[in-house]
Amino acid sequence: MSPANTGPAAVIVLAAGAGTRMKSRTPKILHEIGGRSMVAHALLAARAIEPRQLALVVRHERDLVATHVAAIDPKAVIVDQDDVPGTGRAVEVALEELDSQGELSGTVVVTYGDVPLLTGALLAELVAAHETEGNAVTVLTAVLEDATGYGRILRAEDGTVTGIREHKDASEAEREIREINSGIYAFDAAVLRTALKQVTTDNVQGEKYLTDVLSLARDAGGRVSAVVTTDRWQVEGANDRVQLSALGAEHNRRIVEAWMRAGVTVVDPATTWIDSTVTLDEDVRILPNTQLHGATTVARDAVVGPDTTLTDVSVGEGATVIRTHGSGAVIGERSSVGPFTYLRPGTVLGETGKIGAFYETKNVTIGRGSKLSHLGYAGDAEIGEDTNIGCGNITANYDGEKKHRTVIGSGVRTGSNTVFVAPVEVGDGAYSGAGAVIRKDVPPGALAVSLASQRNLEGWVLDKRQGTGSARYAQAALDARSAQDDQFPESSSTTATIEEGK
Ligand code: UD1
Ligand code: MG
Repeated sequence: MSPANTGPAAVIVLAAGAGTRMKSRTPKILHEIGGRSMVAHALLAARAIEPRQLALVVRHERDLVATHVAAIDPKAVIVDQDDVPGTGRAVEVALEELDSQGELSGTVVVTYGDVPLLTGALLAELVAAHETEGNAVTVLTAVLEDATGYGRILRAEDGTVTGIREHKDASEAEREIREINSGIYAFDAAVLRTALKQVTTDNVQGEKYLTDVLSLARDAGGRVSAVVTTDRWQVEGANDRVQLSALGAEHNRRIVEAWMRAGVTVVDPATTWIDSTVTLDEDVRILPNTQLHGATTVARDAVVGPDTTLTDVSVGEGATVIRTHGSGAVIGERSSVGPFTYLRPGTVLGETGKIGAFYETKNVTIGRGSKLSHLGYAGDAEIGEDTNIGCGNITANYDGEKKHRTVIGSGVRTGSNTVFVAPVEVGDGAYSGAGAVIRKDVPPGALAVSLASQRNLEGWVLDKRQGTGSARYAQAALDARSAQDDQFPESSSTTATIEEGK
């Protein structure tokens, strides 16, 4: 047997319900926590016990759900529930579908698509108890303070499980029971198949209840048992957005705690959000208000935060990333980013490089040791090594129709407010003057200056802006200057006209 065939015969994940309380155009199980849809969490837990078959029962918004599942778990069998309502019917149609590919025997596990914190470990515990005890049915239960709404576990005097009573069908006395049905079970396939044929819709809700299988199995002489979990979060479903956020917070708390145990410093777990898809090395430090999403990875000794959101960003060893919003970027070893930096997809910062305050970058490769320290935009560009890009530099990459590339070499020094009008190339070791507008390629080692010479039009404000505040200030300054000239004629300062670039 291959390792993938060592688990139960099948897991059936129920997900046909409408989820109306979410009040959403998005199907309930496609809502996300920790960077994954709820159904993705359910499928991962199911896959963890390596079932031979995995089926998902759908109905509400079935196409949206099916498309999503095909993308994340293409081997899952999508089963459509018919008009007969109820969890019993949902399992019945799935079993029929799976049986049609070869009759199942052994253990069939049932879970829900909207219980995102359930782990493979707890499912494995359920299956192990079920199989070692030789049960017909084993139900996963929990004891809650408030059991309202749940099916209650009925037990005989000796403690053996006799059945499940739905809240709506329960008597006053039965509603006092605090042990609840999680809706997660392990069944013997043959028992399940036979019992489901006998389940009716004769109840308050007019549904085929899966829960009826327990008493039917017991009546047929099978052993019915329960695994009681003390971790209520693992059996909690999200029915509305309040529960979704509570489950999301708990999921995050668990992930953050696991990373701390693995050697990551998290200064403020309450404001640190880490998706389950993120990976961190030992000795990473995460400062408050930081969100790490998607395929983000952070290498050893890097410091991320405070106030940083990274999605699909790889942070190199020893790098620092402060107050930054980034996606689809690579931050090199020992480099620094931030504060107030916006890294857009395709940004690749080389080791020991820098992207400083108020910078936006996109589709730019920055070589080792190069620095873009303050105030600028670099897009569709390639920058060599040990280059210093001055304050306020911009790659003007878009001509209104097409994007063009800027290529800047190594060892380049650009003056403040240089604009690179792409497509353009700047050679190694070149310089640019302050305010240069680079429209033509700059050869290696050249200084590029492009501004017209400065001219001072004396008296222009007094003439053209008469009566303004500027004119009054100017007049006062000029009067003071001429009074001084009258007093000390020999030290009179002639107005110097500084002309550049001559
Ligand atoms: C069900 C259980 C209840 C248990 C509770 C735990 C039954 C009869 N009752 O109640 O004992 O305490 O779950 O949350 O099983 N679904 C389908 N097809 C259907 C109906 C439901 O696929 O026709 C799916 C839903 O999408 C959901 C799950 O089954 O994922 C549970 O359905 P829900 O309507 O929430 O069941 P409850 O009435 O809450
Ligand atoms: Mg429910």
